[in-house]
Amino acid sequence: MTTQSTHTPAHTLFKVLPGAEGAAVTNVAIWFNDQPLTVPGGRSVAAALLAAGVSRFRATPVSGAPRAPFCMMGACFDCLVEIDGVPSRQACMVEVKAGMRIRSQEGARDLPPVSFADAPMENAHGR
Ligand code: FES
Repeated sequence: MTTQSTHTPAHTLFKVLPGAEGAAVTNVAIWFNDQPLTVPGGRSVAAALLAAGVSRFRATPVSGAPRAPFCMMGACFDCLVEIDGVPSRQACMVEVKAGMRIRSQEGARDLPPVSFADAPMENAHGR
């Protein structure tokens, strides 16, 4: 499920860079907290969700305070979400793909099930 369009983020915090205006963006359809969502593709899950207006990615285990991506480079862990059933994925380090099922992460998570332990955990850089 992909469409070609020129994406203009609704959130004023995220503006299109000079020179990138008018560039075609391929939108992808994903699920966020069991709701369908169309987000710009070709970027990290965190960037795609932020561009779509999502501002709450997880809640802290102790106080339940809301968190959203901060560093966008894999250092702060404030962007942890569940992606396709795998908890504690760094949304800023995984490229968004059509059909992904993403859930906000509420509180602490257990280790992933054994079946996921051997699965490759690729990030946006293919590592
Ligand atoms: S935003 Fe900091 S680790 Fe993802």
